[in-house]
Amino acid sequence: MRIDIVTIFPEFFDVLDLSLLGKARQSGLIELGVHNLRDHTHDRHRTVDDTPYGGGAGMVMKPEPWGDALDAIFGEPAPVSSEADAAPGPILIFPSPAGEQFTQAMARELSEQPHLVFACGRYEGIDQRVVDHFATRGEVRLVSLGDYVLNGGEVAVMAMIEAVGRLIPGVVGNPESLVEESHEGGLLEYPSYTKPSSWRGLDVPPVLLSGNHGAISAWRRAQQLERTRRVRPDLLPPAV
Ligand code: ADE
Repeated sequence: MRIDIVTIFPEFFDVLDLSLLGKARQSGLIELGVHNLRDHTHDRHRTVDDTPYGGGAGMVMKPEPWGDALDAIFGEPAPVSSEADAAPGPILIFPSPAGEQFTQAMARELSEQPHLVFACGRYEGIDQRVVDHFATRGEVRLVSLGDYVLNGGEVAVMAMIEAVGRLIPGVVGNPESLVEESHEGGLLEYPSYTKPSSWRGLDVPPVLLSGNHGAISAWRRAQQLERTRRVRPDLLPPAV
């Protein structure tokens, strides 16, 4: 998969050199391009924002640098007559608290795409015409990490890339570890334990030491249900 990110803080994404995603980049499973929006400004101050039309607090990101930065990734707009022949391009994602909610299902869907482009807004957001223009050229999605407001899209994009990247076949060594996780299969994950069997007076549940695989599976399933009922009843199907 190819991932491009446009941001005014490219250094923010240096951490994508680390850990599983870093390895996935080294092995070529993920190809990453991080682009500085300010490289697409044409004034001495490398200005990316301006005051909002209609008034109000904060600043809005100007359309021209965004248009140029995204054209550099997507290619120049095709002449109208050749649009029908164009191969489907990348999916363009704008992280935004006004977007649809990011979920594990969305992470899985995005992990099957060949090319994602993330446009990290700051301040009060990006001029709406950038979204509207690129929506005429391909698939555009506004995606929210959750019902809270971050200072910009970078943290949200980091989270999305981690959630998407680990679902790309080969990125996580043991694919079975993806199957039993929270949000795969609708229930929260069961609690996990490792050695020693007793620590600070707390013992590992004896069933896990029993070697009885049927009993272990039943215990884990019961733990998943109990946990989900207690902290996330909204995830339970109506009949459970
Ligand atoms: N930018 C600011 N807040 C955000 C959120 N909750 N999700 C995605 N992008 C954001």
